Amino acid sequence: MALDAGTRGEAASADLAVTGLAMSFGGARPVFSGLDFAVARGEALALVGANGAGKSTLLRCCLGLVAPDAGAVRLLGEDILALGAARRRALRRHTGLVAQRHNLVPRLSVLSNVIHGLLGQAGGPRFWSHAAAPEEARTRAMAALDRVGIADLALRRADRLSGGQSQRAAIARALVSEPRLLIADEPCASLDPAAGEEIMALFFRLVRETGVTVIFTSHQIDHALTYGDRVLGLKAGGFAIDARAEALAPADFRMLYD
Ligand SMILES: Nc1ncnc2c1ncn2[C@@H]1O[C@H](COP(=O)(O)OP(=O)(O)OP(=O)(O)O)[C@@H](O)[C@H]1O
Ligand SMILES: [Mg+2]
Repeated sequence: MALDAGTRGEAASADLAVTGLAMSFGGARPVFSGLDFAVARGEALALVGANGAGKSTLLRCCLGLVAPDAGAVRLLGEDILALGAARRRALRRHTGLVAQRHNLVPRLSVLSNVIHGLLGQAGGPRFWSHAAAPEEARTRAMAALDRVGIADLALRRADRLSGGQSQRAAIARALVSEPRLLIADEPCASLDPAAGEEIMALFFRLVRETGVTVIFTSHQIDHALTYGDRVLGLKAGGFAIDARAEALAPADFRMLYD
């Protein structure tokens, strides 16, 4: 495995630059500490590691959703930890999140759920349901559903979707606001292998089409190698892997899970 020194530190064109990041949740042993990495504009970064290694926590720190114990996070050129709540929310409008559990509102329509992806840009109760939403929001949400191939399900209740359809809806919700940086935490968790492949291929086709910067986690090594430009592997609170995807082979990942 070749370590890529160029992936460390802060790049001038980085959409995300993290230095000295540490998080412990108050426990004796930190989840991670001393993490340094940067993600360049348009780059796809795969974050891998065993269950509990800290992947989701790291992603949440990067978006300013949880405060780390130490370190700095520059997101889209702004020091996210130094911002007040309002400016932090404003910055988050340029980001999208596909969570480990898709978190659709079950009783609302698929279309309403996708319109919720615009709440950060133009809030208010009119955006809670598709019936009240402004025409422009509905049009954008329908276009996003069309791109993920489920425009025909727009008016179906979200709790009546299959796992794969739910994940498509969650991707539409993340993309509808045209974010600059997208975070996808196990975007195909809970899907069968064929549906998982389909979702990853669809997700990364959209990512590459729009040139959005993406950080994703996966427990599937082939996904990290196929869709990531770079791979970071978390183990025992640090990066045991920090390399370009083409420099890695599946065997290099084994030690993450020992
Ligand atoms: N809110 C919290 N309070 C206390 N501990 C937490 C909290 N969230 C996560 N942890 C702990 O932090 C560690 C890392 O959890 P995290 O969810 O980031 O792991 P992960 O790599 O995403 O795992 P998985 O692959 O299972 O999703 C775990 O030991 C977890 O128990
Ligand atoms: Mg996780």
